[in-house]
Amino acid sequence: MARILRLVVALVALVAPAQGWGKDAATVTLSVENGGPWGDWGDPVFCPKGSYANGFQLKVEPPQGLFRDDTALNAVRLLCSNGATATSSEGPRGTWLSPLSCSRGHLSSFRLRVEAPQGLWDDTAANNVDVACSDGRVLEGQGGLAGTWGNWSSFCPHGGGVCGLRTRLEAPQRGGKDNTALNDVEMFCCS
Ligand SMILES: *[C@@H]1O[C@H](CO)[C@@H](O)[C@H](O)[C@H]1NC(C)=O
Repeated sequence: MARILRLVVALVALVAPAQGWGKDAATVTLSVENGGPWGDWGDPVFCPKGSYANGFQLKVEPPQGLFRDDTALNAVRLLCSNGATATSSEGPRGTWLSPLSCSRGHLSSFRLRVEAPQGLWDDTAANNVDVACSDGRVLEGQGGLAGTWGNWSSFCPHGGGVCGLRTRLEAPQRGGKDNTALNDVEMFCCS
């Protein structure tokens, strides 16, 4: 009996209501065409219901020098208007850089700086992220310089804003291989 009770308690904990908006609240998915090809998409993560992302933070590995494996961008974190944060998959290398926030409004579009596949040379894939606020100002990420900027994603519908994201991460490869860490980003709009 006690075992069954424990099982029931564990199941209730598993299905307890999610804290965030949840995927069905997202009205629009913002994506870009130039994401890198490696790795798997992490779980979508969201700001707490009713709050929007009004800032972001990048986790970046600085250049490692000639002949050493570089990964550049390792993670992107959303800073929510109520003080919470939301981070999808996160690579192990690098450090979190200073947060960047909109002076007014929410995040509403982004673009990605990506290094195209280098063949036998060292790949880094995604290097940097710029974000546009709903008032039109651009927050410039402090990430790596390799690669080129792609086009801006579409914008969140008027009145809404970014409320979640997911990231595509190449998991660390065994045996000193060529790692790239973060490859691609999608953001979700809620309103
Ligand atoms: C960016 O947009 C332009 C114009 O729509 C398009 O021609 C180009 O292919 C796009 N770039 C990428 C990387 O898809």
